[in-house]
Amino acid sequence: MEQLQICISKEVEKAFTDCGYQAEYGKVAWSNRPDLCQFQCNGALVAGKVYKQAPLQIAEEIASKLKKSSLYKSIVCVMPGFINITLTDDFIARYLNDMAMAPKWGCSEIGKGKKMILDYGGPNVAKPLHVGHLRTAIIGESLKRVGRFLGYKVLGDAHLGDWGLPIGLIITELKKRSPNLPYFDSSHIGAYPKEPPFLIDELEEMYPTASRYAKEVPSFMEEAKEATYLFQNGHRGYVALWKHILDVSITDLKRNYKQLNVSFDLWNKESDVQGYIPTMVQQLIDQGDAYESEGALVVDVKEESDQKEMPPCILVKSDGGTLYSTTDLATIAMRRIDYNPDEIIYIVDKRQAMHFEQVFRCARKTHLIDDKTKLIFLGFGTVNGKDGKPYKTRDGGVMRLENLIKEVTHKVYEKVSTNKSIKYEEGMAIASKIGIAALKYGDLSNQISKDYIFDLDRFTDFEGNTGPYILYTVVRIGSILSKYREEGQDNLGSKIEVSVPSSKSERDLMLKLTRFNEIIEASFINYAPHRICQYIYEVSNSFNHFYHEHNILKEQDKNKQVAWINLITLTQAILTVSLELLGIEVPEKM
Ligand code: ARG
Repeated sequence: MEQLQICISKEVEKAFTDCGYQAEYGKVAWSNRPDLCQFQCNGALVAGKVYKQAPLQIAEEIASKLKKSSLYKSIVCVMPGFINITLTDDFIARYLNDMAMAPKWGCSEIGKGKKMILDYGGPNVAKPLHVGHLRTAIIGESLKRVGRFLGYKVLGDAHLGDWGLPIGLIITELKKRSPNLPYFDSSHIGAYPKEPPFLIDELEEMYPTASRYAKEVPSFMEEAKEATYLFQNGHRGYVALWKHILDVSITDLKRNYKQLNVSFDLWNKESDVQGYIPTMVQQLIDQGDAYESEGALVVDVKEESDQKEMPPCILVKSDGGTLYSTTDLATIAMRRIDYNPDEIIYIVDKRQAMHFEQVFRCARKTHLIDDKTKLIFLGFGTVNGKDGKPYKTRDGGVMRLENLIKEVTHKVYEKVSTNKSIKYEEGMAIASKIGIAALKYGDLSNQISKDYIFDLDRFTDFEGNTGPYILYTVVRIGSILSKYREEGQDNLGSKIEVSVPSSKSERDLMLKLTRFNEIIEASFINYAPHRICQYIYEVSNSFNHFYHEHNILKEQDKNKQVAWINLITLTQAILTVSLELLGIEVPEKM
């Protein structure tokens, strides 16, 4: 379904061409002075310069054409040449009724036939998820949902980090603690135990311990590097241990992501592409792209227009080891072979911008990727504490995601439990949904690239621009609707049908709802979930104004009442789908 703004633009563009001007001047935008008009067209100002005429004269010419149409309540020309447009109530209601009947509430399948890989999550085995993993998970989940809603075929890939020094450190640490395990016995020939030699808590404790120790004791670090080399090159015992680490870790990661209501279609790992690296490296050498420099194998990625230093992309280090960039290049090549996507989007900390710039340039230059495939780096900002520094626990440690979720849930439970009719279990379930909504909305309402301050008090507030406020609005609508039904007044048809608005607040709400398709499509094209947040905040505010001004359940005029019930049903639907697209679930009650 065509966006309202585009419908109006087309009309006005036609008026421009009918009057002998270029169509482009007829573009209209939603008014930034809603007290004056709903839409505005500023094209006459530019056209005036081009056609050497007074802009106001052009504006008036256009206005007199437009006035013949029944769409407009008023067309007003304002000095020096603005055209202010207000639609008839009848047209607004008609648009909304069409939208209510349209699939996906009027959104177009702009992604039909397009395939996209979203690289988000980016967890590393044996390291617990922490606050730094929050944004990629939340943003990725939302983009995946919106993309699918708009018809894209989207594959979400966790791209698990399982191939580096951390594994070597854990193996070495385990050897220190339990040297008699068969994994360390070079004479062991049979199978290794099926049961892992550690539980997740021990595993997660081992990595930081080993990492700290390795910084103090160089020989331990050497041993860890050696272990890394060995497991990467097929040492039987270490490969068996690596598999245990993977199993234990992935189970735990999945549990954590589930709490966040985040999931992936693919759990591809860094290790999955290692086998392909030698072929790829050889190919880049044969093509003449890769060359030796100071013992390392590199590809130049500098471009003439570069303003900043752009070091070459290193494929193989002087000691023969490969790097993060080598793995990412091989991953791009594999994704092309396995999925042939139109777009690969990476949702990664913006501090990795340089890495991705090098990798993308290298992949393009060496034709590891098709020219048609877009490679997009969506770098996200840092989650900071109130002191403006990266968010930490009270004692200054890294905040684990699991603990963060617990903290939010408890905070929300305190509020929910003031309602004595809600029992503990139910209260916790509700609090968990609201808590996740608070976290997700607090995150998604910021521009992806910006840092933000993690303020639990603000995020969990039931008022203001917060997740709980939006949920509260949806739940409130739900309870009005169920009261209406309880009173046996359910004489609604199967169609949602609104009438012409009878008040300003009703019209405002209706106009807000008409923008759903525009906002969803724009939020995806611009990778900007924050626009959905801003939108549902405005819809919620408009609904709450309307609700305060109209006593829906007591309304005597039954036709009016049915139209209102339909309007709030539509409002509830729009808010619920929008929340779903953000990855946020609505509780039954609050
Ligand atoms: N595991 C990486 C990290 O912790 C993030 C992975 C992002 N994705 C990628 N294809 N490099 O920094």
